[in-house]
Amino acid sequence: MTGAAVSARAPAKVNVHLGVGPLRADGFHELHTVYLAVALFDTVTARPGEGLSLTVSGEGSGAGPGHVPGDRTNLVWRAAELLAAHAGVPADAALDITKSIPVAGGLAGGSADAAAALVALDAFWGTRAGREDLLDLAAQLGSDIPFSLVGGVALGTGRGEQVAPVLAAAATHWVLGIAGEGLSTPAVYGELDRMRAAGRLLDPEGPASGAPVIAALRSGAVADLGAALANDLQAPALGLRPDLRRALRSAEDAGAVAVLLSGSGPTVAALAADEDSAVRIAAELAGVGVFRTVRAVTGPVPGARLVP
Ligand code: C5P
Repeated sequence: MTGAAVSARAPAKVNVHLGVGPLRADGFHELHTVYLAVALFDTVTARPGEGLSLTVSGEGSGAGPGHVPGDRTNLVWRAAELLAAHAGVPADAALDITKSIPVAGGLAGGSADAAAALVALDAFWGTRAGREDLLDLAAQLGSDIPFSLVGGVALGTGRGEQVAPVLAAAATHWVLGIAGEGLSTPAVYGELDRMRAAGRLLDPEGPASGAPVIAALRSGAVADLGAALANDLQAPALGLRPDLRRALRSAEDAGAVAVLLSGSGPTVAALAADEDSAVRIAAELAGVGVFRTVRAVTGPVPGARLVP
């Protein structure tokens, strides 16, 4: 059944813990990661159409390296084809992505789009796929996409696609600063492998546990959370983009409790003591000339949802 327009939105994420184990035979790394969804959303709208079409507006809709493709290479297009095949319905929809999440920033913007597309099209086509089915389709599309569906705070294991909720006692406040061009996730994982093979980083038998971050989230103590933040992809991202050291330092100097790169970068995630502090840090970072985009955000927030 296809009728009026249906929209869904999904949030960006920060990895507050990202422990990366060895490279697996399938080309992925074993992870222990703690995802936290933050209030920065992309929206996907489905309207009646014959076959699939896709338009993109907002962040990354123009030409250039941060450009979001409007064809079948876009995860939204692939999500639509996968759901249609799964449900046995024709893949008919005119899709639009309205982006607020910066592209290739380590914030799972593409994953948010795919998760929002699954939720919007499930309602638009009346496929009633069910939560487990949607999670399964999401995992086929990308490692971060099941989390974009569930949102909140979750421990991700396997290649990141197996998600289990984590309790967070309090809201957390972040400033996200995007410095320069995007970074390719496979390139950052590749650099990690090279640094480990060359003995420049310890080569662990398994991914570091997220237990310290999980305990800090449960207690709600922001200083403990700041001390526990960890990201194994930070060293290789800095190897590829040494200029990010200055970006991290400027966020520290602006009064953050702690700073780290989000996922594979280059987004700097600065943890603020409270909401007022986040606003002050964001204002200061907007003026230092290092970041092309600065946003103060709060989390956790829910995952992909229909927009009423
Ligand atoms: O699953 P996704 O398509 O988001 O992964 C993109 C790339 O990131 C993979 O092709 C792989 O190079 C790298 N990756 C990885 N280990 C993971 C997740 C992603 O090596 N657990």
